[in-house]
Amino acid sequence: MTDKATPMTYPPLACVILAAGQGTRMKSSLPKVLHPVASFPMIRHVVKACEALAPQKVVVVVAPDMDAVQAAVTPHACAIQSQPLGTGDAVKAAREALTGFEGHVLVLFGDTPLITPASLMALRERLMQDKAALAVAGFVPADPAPYGRLVMGTNGKLQAIVEAADATPEQKAITLCNGGIMLFEATALWALLDQIGNDNAKGEYYLTDAIALANKQGLAVTTTTLDADDVRGVNTRVQLAEVDAVMQNRLRTAHMLSGVTMIDPATVTLAADTVMGQDVSIGPNVVFATGVVIEDNVEIRAFSHLDQVTVKKGAIIGPFVRLRPNSVIGEAAHIGNFVEIKNTKIAKGAKVNHLSYIGDASVGEKTNIGAGTITCNYDGFTKAHTEIGAGAFIGSNTALVAPVTIGDGAIIAAGSTITQDIPPDALAIARERQTNTEGWAGRFRALQKTKT
Ligand code: UD1
Ligand code: MG
Repeated sequence: MTDKATPMTYPPLACVILAAGQGTRMKSSLPKVLHPVASFPMIRHVVKACEALAPQKVVVVVAPDMDAVQAAVTPHACAIQSQPLGTGDAVKAAREALTGFEGHVLVLFGDTPLITPASLMALRERLMQDKAALAVAGFVPADPAPYGRLVMGTNGKLQAIVEAADATPEQKAITLCNGGIMLFEATALWALLDQIGNDNAKGEYYLTDAIALANKQGLAVTTTTLDADDVRGVNTRVQLAEVDAVMQNRLRTAHMLSGVTMIDPATVTLAADTVMGQDVSIGPNVVFATGVVIEDNVEIRAFSHLDQVTVKKGAIIGPFVRLRPNSVIGEAAHIGNFVEIKNTKIAKGAKVNHLSYIGDASVGEKTNIGAGTITCNYDGFTKAHTEIGAGAFIGSNTALVAPVTIGDGAIIAAGSTITQDIPPDALAIARERQTNTEGWAGRFRALQKTKT
């Protein structure tokens, strides 16, 4: 641990994230590192963990055809590895982008999205304390089979990393493995990379060979052991689901610890950017896509789906509500069961409680939208806006054919199809007038009886 009286001063940091591998086991046309974890491309999580360390530079190593990966890591630099010749070769590809950089170079993989800033800091601290040129993040996986093994010397120091494909039976029995995250003193890194060859089972330039080479040259090498979840990698969609589950659990825990109640946490799906205030209550089976902000004292009931929406304090949402992008639900508003809201601003205290579609609209304060109200916002070609004032009352089963404006305080009779603007405080009835024919039903029944 760092002595609190003399805090450690760290040299400048550069991060190199390797992402040029093809990810063939994902069986996907999408590059592996773009598959989402908590609704964001997994490489964004790695970038975010790096950013938390305030590095001088982040360089992402990609293959030549990975424009989408380059876009996903903006504004950071990308370096192209022209052929996938191994992790050692991939780091070399970043060298030019780091010309003149002096300090520590952290090498990470783009497919380990659960890495945390705390773990990265632990590695930095270990390197500094041991005055080493190189530090390796080890872990003890449940199944060590595919990983590089950390071979320790009799002095207890890391001697070498042996890749699974090259390991002897004794080495395969080692349970401490390479998590794939390494920290190097920059000059040592570039010198070591030049010496790495490809005389191994895969014919690749292994970054992991740097350890034995460093030892040979008398450079100090050290290692720290991280939580296995932190370095969990994604190679298949099964592992993608497992990693997402760990991420979801972390996100739920963080929200609950900061004042959110979840009735059945395991069923709540969050995005990495979900923002929630205090005393928010979330029912079972609620899904948060990206860009959701929930203010204090909001209740979100079961089976609701929220996407790019802000819900202001004290609002009640659900059960079975769908809130679609660019919507704002006002303070203490109620959005009830089987209601869909899209690109709409619902003002303070307004209610849309049952079976409605409100899209491309604005609903004023304290307006009540009756059951089965539909904004007819689309004519097959363009979308049009519906403006509903404050204190209005929209009767059940009303169709509002946009563009249309409903004045403040207006009342619409149930079952109306509104095609013209309604002035403030007016009553609008837009349906066939009812006719009652006295005695008709009795005569009808009598007639039917004579037929049988
Ligand atoms: C690597 C390590 C292994 C470690 C394991 C942890 C090496 C040689 N082996 O093995 O010790 O236990 O990770 O998960 O480093 N990449 C490139 N260009 C390449 C090859 C790979 O950018 O030419 C990138 C990949 O996109 C990936 C990362 O490097 O993000 C790791 O490559 P991968 O092939 O998965 O290495 P492993 O065999 O898993
Ligand atoms: Mg791998």
